[in-house]
Amino acid sequence: MDGDGRAVSNGIAPPPFQLPAPDSPDVITANMTRLTDLTVNDRQRFLFKNLVSHLHSFVRETGLTTKEWEETILFLTRTGQKCTPIRQEFILLSDVLGVSALVDAINNPPENGATESSVLGPFFTDDAPELANGESIASEGKGEYMYVEGRILSVDGTPIPNAAIETWETDANGFYDTQYEGRERADCRGRLHSDKDGYFGYRAVVPVAYPIPGDGPVGELLLRMSRHNMRPNHLHIMVEAPGFRKLVTAFYPEGDTYIESDAVFGVKKSLVVTLETVKDEAEARKRGFPKGDNFKLLRRDVILVPQS
Ligand SMILES: [Fe+2]
Repeated sequence: MDGDGRAVSNGIAPPPFQLPAPDSPDVITANMTRLTDLTVNDRQRFLFKNLVSHLHSFVRETGLTTKEWEETILFLTRTGQKCTPIRQEFILLSDVLGVSALVDAINNPPENGATESSVLGPFFTDDAPELANGESIASEGKGEYMYVEGRILSVDGTPIPNAAIETWETDANGFYDTQYEGRERADCRGRLHSDKDGYFGYRAVVPVAYPIPGDGPVGELLLRMSRHNMRPNHLHIMVEAPGFRKLVTAFYPEGDTYIESDAVFGVKKSLVVTLETVKDEAEARKRGFPKGDNFKLLRRDVILVPQS
């Protein structure tokens, strides 16, 4: 709208070339492709050209019906409408279609024995309490005891001291703390640092498999595709150290029913871990577990790639 209340254009002139009338499928695609040439930014021009090419091919090759396209638009509309400041249905859609995992795989290829990345997921929060090594990320009664320990190392084996470690997981019910009504403080999540030898260790609970949210359009999509909505149990861990690439990953205890069919394609073979059972009351007390005579032990080094 201009100052006089009239409808006006966005200020861009018509293209400096003639386009034939879009009166056949091929001309529509050719015209649209030609228009992408106007994009000033090289990378964006390349992305638009490919997007148009693949999107138009999809419509043509599938013979997409008007009704199917209307349903698709309605589905995407509902996906957007389901989003809130703490619910991101579009990320979930990207996750279940394997796009999040694919972008991650392309951008973070396996390197020199470094720990591989995995999907961040929607449950990270930035209010995890600061812990010292040996302390617990979980309050008492949240699940079966598990001790997590290892070293933060560079790919050449050099220990990395004072690396910042963020870690979060479900409780024994399969819920993150954020999924409980009236959450007052963080639980089953913590922030700690590796010591001078790169060592880190903390008490936690054995995470359990859980469903991704099924009460929205993405849940309906999975039902339509006859796919379950479960993620195998896992412990999230994110590590940052000056001079190294930030690592977002997770460890997946072996043996879970869903380990080969993770709804969001997060499991890489190298991230599957074995939980040892330690049956030793004295050792349980020494590690700070207040009761019982056994706990699970997840022992795993985390190897970072130096920043180039
Ligand atoms: Fe998770």
